[in-house]
Amino acid sequence: MNRNVATIPQDLIAALKKAKHVVVFTGAGVSAESGIPTFRDSLTGLWERFHAEDLATPGAFHKDKELVWGWYEWRRMKVSQAQPNPAHIAVATLATLVPKLTIVTQNVDDLHERAGSTDVLHLHGSLHSPRCATCGQAHILPPGIPVEPEGGRRSSPPVCICGGLVRPGVVWFGEDLPVRELRQAFEAAQKCDLLFAIGTSGLVQPAARIPSLAKQAGACVVQVNPTSTELDRECTWSVRGGAGEIMPNLLQAAFGPA
Ligand code: APR
Repeated sequence: MNRNVATIPQDLIAALKKAKHVVVFTGAGVSAESGIPTFRDSLTGLWERFHAEDLATPGAFHKDKELVWGWYEWRRMKVSQAQPNPAHIAVATLATLVPKLTIVTQNVDDLHERAGSTDVLHLHGSLHSPRCATCGQAHILPPGIPVEPEGGRRSSPPVCICGGLVRPGVVWFGEDLPVRELRQAFEAAQKCDLLFAIGTSGLVQPAARIPSLAKQAGACVVQVNPTSTELDRECTWSVRGGAGEIMPNLLQAAFGPA
């Protein structure tokens, strides 16, 4: 039974208070209130005539590396300029309030970490860990916030000492997810007693399997999203609204003032 509510249900508060192992599974929506455009909204300026899926593939990088590298440097600028919002901070605080918390994100930003969360499982990689497309060597980015024009620009990816091209450290469409992170995320989903799906459309596999794995293993699943999604049927509760408002309110309702 899925209850679409804007207020926080008492039985959800009770479930959180007695939870032994909580999984927080996040998508682009958790960073929306930090001004980071959700994946499908980050196509402005130079990239507005493209589909996200056309830029985030090995083929796209092969076809036009300057266009793709420019896009990721622009996104890295946006993320670096942004600040964690109350949802990220609530998730970090939750780690101090429940016996065990596992954080799994589809996001390639570092806002969970900048809010104080540790051991975040990044299923789709990170904007901050580029590597050589040939030898795999990690590439050290220059310190500071990248300076990119607001509308974006084409820019050449760095070249590795092996002569190979440096590529963004994100998982592109058609690529496998990192094995350790995916295994740990699936295991946590199957062992937890409460799973939060925050700000995700639940459209992209295999990450989108995580809430249903938790439900099949007997956990309660709660969705935090202003709209309905593919995950509705997996949820015990769907709390309609912005994560930056709902998550702090839920923690306050369950554990009292911070
Ligand atoms: N609070 C909570 N949810 C929000 C908020 C908010 N303030 N604002 C938007 N949302 C919701 C939207 O309603 C939508 O359901 O966040 C979701 C974002 O969905 P997508 O843009 O599809 O992002 P995501 O689910 O993370 O996409 C998954 O797809 O494209 C790949 O790698 C990319 O990691 C991404 C993956």
